Amino acid sequence: MCRVNPKNVAFLVLIVLLFWSSSFEVCSGGEGKHWRQNIASGLRRQMAGGSSATATFNVLDYGAKGDGRTDDTKAFEAAWAAACKVQASTMMVPSGSVFLVGAISFSGLNCQPNIVFELDGKIIAPTSSSVWGSGLLQWIEFTKLKGITIRGKGTIDGQGSVWWNDSPTFDPTAEDSTTNDMVNAELKGKMPGTRPTALRFYGSNGVTVTGITIQNSPQTHLKFDTCTSVQVSDFTASSPGNSPNTDGIHLQNSQDVVISGSNLACGDDCVSIQTGCSNVYIHTVKCGPGHGISIGGLGKDNSKACVSNITVRDVTLQNTLTGVRIKTWQGGSGAVQQVMFSNIQVSEVEIPIMIDQFYCDKGSCKNQSSAVAVSGINYVNIQGTYTVKPVHFACSDSLPCTGVSLSTIELKSVQENHHLDGPFCWETYGELKTTTEPPINCLEIGKPSKAGTHSNFESC
Ligand SMILES: *[C@@H]1O[C@H](CO)[C@@H](O)[C@H](O)[C@H]1NC(C)=O
Ligand SMILES: *[C@@H]1O[C@H](CO)[C@@H](O)[C@H](O)[C@H]1NC(C)=O
Repeated sequence: MCRVNPKNVAFLVLIVLLFWSSSFEVCSGGEGKHWRQNIASGLRRQMAGGSSATATFNVLDYGAKGDGRTDDTKAFEAAWAAACKVQASTMMVPSGSVFLVGAISFSGLNCQPNIVFELDGKIIAPTSSSVWGSGLLQWIEFTKLKGITIRGKGTIDGQGSVWWNDSPTFDPTAEDSTTNDMVNAELKGKMPGTRPTALRFYGSNGVTVTGITIQNSPQTHLKFDTCTSVQVSDFTASSPGNSPNTDGIHLQNSQDVVISGSNLACGDDCVSIQTGCSNVYIHTVKCGPGHGISIGGLGKDNSKACVSNITVRDVTLQNTLTGVRIKTWQGGSGAVQQVMFSNIQVSEVEIPIMIDQFYCDKGSCKNQSSAVAVSGINYVNIQGTYTVKPVHFACSDSLPCTGVSLSTIELKSVQENHHLDGPFCWETYGELKTTTEPPINCLEIGKPSKAGTHSNFESC
């Protein structure tokens, strides 16, 4: 059999490409130049022996100014279009520049796999209302990719204060947000009512986010929807504690997710785990300010929600609303099961441990008998200080929480002599594996007599 030397093949490909792209340049002006240089340099590096060498597509080579004032959206789109064609290529956003980029979608529909988005510079969002039209759900989006990595020391800044200040109490997820509100806001030159998530991944498999910072998002900082095999590490989310609805990381319909070594400071949940999530492992994370690490709210508008196999461990929470929380709306169906919260250190947290099956973000919600079942929830080694109540378990009358187990709980009131509320439990069944501080006498030991939860688990 004839053996083909890969270096010879690469050399032939290079010759052909150089020939082809120089004729291409004649037709298209300068556009093909960078593409040719990058392909050529990638190949040169491969020929020099670096098997992992990649083609690099620097946004500055595609016309980005990086002056913080010029709209660089088109340059980013062009660099992506080029990077997309080459497997394991790198799209480079270099340090030392500030790139003003409008709403942009990096679609992987026809892209090669394993692209790296190297972010070392800063990307900022436009703050003029006219750019946002009637509002968008996200600012920077990566969709339908097979293997996508965002890494580097760079920052994505949503410049959210123009949105927060405009409508401090506006909640885009609230049912009563009307088109009229948005139209009125626009007429006044205000930011639209729908506030974008800063960075969203959708429908992708093999997503890595590492090193970067996202700050001052108008809404959620980092969102994963319908993704599998997600790794987030050494990530920072940063916005003020009073910025509305600014979740740190939001997970939805995603499986096999690991979030580690991250620092999350924001105005809403540091991590929010929504329906369709399973096999999620969160560890070595700092949260605060913020609302804590939350599963839910699930089951809104009588919807079905399924969440399972969630582990949260070695997490520090400081000055947050809750510590580790499960929240479900009345009227939902489905189940939350197999949850482990362990080695959770709280400091001046209002309510460190919470299950709320009566979650309601408006004044009052209708009482309904169906509920998202909550079962197999384990708390191990939860320690520190609280400012309102150590434990709050409010479970459904028709579908009590089951299998709630607590071990090594040591929670102290911030003010030693000040009388605060004790633990609260309603329709909560499980076991105390150790004595706890304070004593939790309200937990019902064992299982409820009427076991009505089976159908919910089976439906998931
Ligand atoms: C639960 O999730 C972890 C990842 O966090 C995974 O390793 C494990 O296999 C999952 N367990 C089950 C029963 O699916
Ligand atoms: C819902 O049920 C609770 C507990 O039974 C009761 O205190 C509350 O008044 C009810 N709320 C409404 C809106 O019916």
